[in-house]
Amino acid sequence: MRELKITPIKNGTVIDHIGNGLALEVLRIIGVRELDKDSSVSVAIHVRSGKLGWKDIVKVESMELSPRKVNAIALIAPTATISIIRDYKVREKRVVDLPSRIVGVLRCPNPTCISNQPEPIESEFEVTDRRPVVLTCAFCERRVDDFLRHLA
Ligand SMILES: Nc1ncnc2c1ncn2[C@@H]1O[C@H](COP(=O)(O)OP(=O)(O)OP(=O)(O)O)[C@@H](O)[C@H]1O
Ligand SMILES: [Mg+2]
Ligand SMILES: [Zn+2]
Repeated sequence: MRELKITPIKNGTVIDHIGNGLALEVLRIIGVRELDKDSSVSVAIHVRSGKLGWKDIVKVESMELSPRKVNAIALIAPTATISIIRDYKVREKRVVDLPSRIVGVLRCPNPTCISNQPEPIESEFEVTDRRPVVLTCAFCERRVDDFLRHLA
């Protein structure tokens, strides 16, 4: 392994091939304040990558990502791969995949949208374009392409 800039982890999740400079957004999505006490996080920023030129890597011990967090990562870092490590070995590896609906991940930018009212309605967006990704609010049809600013 040429790439061991970070200590190996026994159990946890590796998010690799994150576009250069986006690791901090991925950390925001993971929610560092919500991690339990065994979850150390290592971050490598601006690492050489054959495929991407430069990339970031995030490794979190003792944690597996919820589907909702994987969806949010897919929006911000569509090139990312997610590997589950158990007993120091890669047990599962998948590329992130953008579903056709994104529920509860972003806030609608329209302040009068029903999903922004005090009632408990989860935000919901349809993926109406993939290259580049454009989302359309299921309630008010407002379009969003600036995801970083609207993470819930
Ligand atoms: N025990 C471990 N602790 C921490 N990270 C690990 C561990 N084992 C593998 N990794 C990381 O998990 C990711 C996937 O591992 P794998 O061995 O499949 O990588 P790879 O051969 O570089 O494949 P690719 O880069 O094409 O996904 C890599 O980022 C690797 O560095
Ligand atoms: Mg690799
Ligand atoms: Zn809306």
